[in-house]
Amino acid sequence: MPDISLHEALFTTRAMRHFKPDPVPRADLEYIVEAGTMAPSAGNMQIWAFVVVTDPALRKAIADTHREVGYQYIRDGVLKEPDLDEDRRRVYSKAMHNVEHLDEAPALIVACLTLPSPDDADAASGLFGSIFPAAQNMLLAARSRGLGGVLLTLATDYSPIKPAVHTPVRDLLELPDDVRAVALIPIGYPKGVWGRPWRKPWQECTHWDRWSDASTSDVP
Ligand SMILES: Cc1cc2nc3c(=O)[nH]c(=O)nc-3n(C[C@H](O)[C@H](O)[C@H](O)COP(=O)(O)O)c2cc1C
Repeated sequence: MPDISLHEALFTTRAMRHFKPDPVPRADLEYIVEAGTMAPSAGNMQIWAFVVVTDPALRKAIADTHREVGYQYIRDGVLKEPDLDEDRRRVYSKAMHNVEHLDEAPALIVACLTLPSPDDADAASGLFGSIFPAAQNMLLAARSRGLGGVLLTLATDYSPIKPAVHTPVRDLLELPDDVRAVALIPIGYPKGVWGRPWRKPWQECTHWDRWSDASTSDVP
């Protein structure tokens, strides 16, 4: 796998949702997690923890929980909204692939946060900012090894939906009380192709000095 430039990695590492069944070498998973720990965190507190899941039975159990939550939230919820716009429909339809096929990813990294103190439990959403930079580092590190992944938050401890039939991911992983699952990141060799993702033109969300001064660059 030839090295790619930082520019190419930044501009073409889109969500990779379809994976080949080939196992991911342990050394690559270790490299990906180590790259995650190079990320910044508030106060450099490094409140992250990662559970790397490769065991097929455990991956299937997590996939079953994720499917239950995904059916409820996406298939029977968002996708049935009468005024769902086409962009959201497209994104959520893609998300359904991972709802149906999460166990096809040969590895799953569960990014967790460790609560600095039990009092922080209610304020935990404010701590996410210390986990997502690590998650993005891991996606870029995966890319550098020819691997892809996607951030999934549906079946985590912060999901709006709790599974009624299957075991919650935190129980499957035997997470201690002060640990919260924040993101599930399936990792594998991509079936899809890399490319520049669709994004609003940066000029539409950029202001110079003051909000009232929108970008003067031409929007293509
Ligand atoms: C905070 C966060 C939560 C996300 N949660 C989910 C999720 O639960 N399920 C899912 O399929 N994708 C999830 N995603 C992935 C986004 O849908 C994806 O990054 C976005 O659609 C852009 O995809 P693209 O890079 O292929 O254009 C999440 C992304 C972020 C940043």
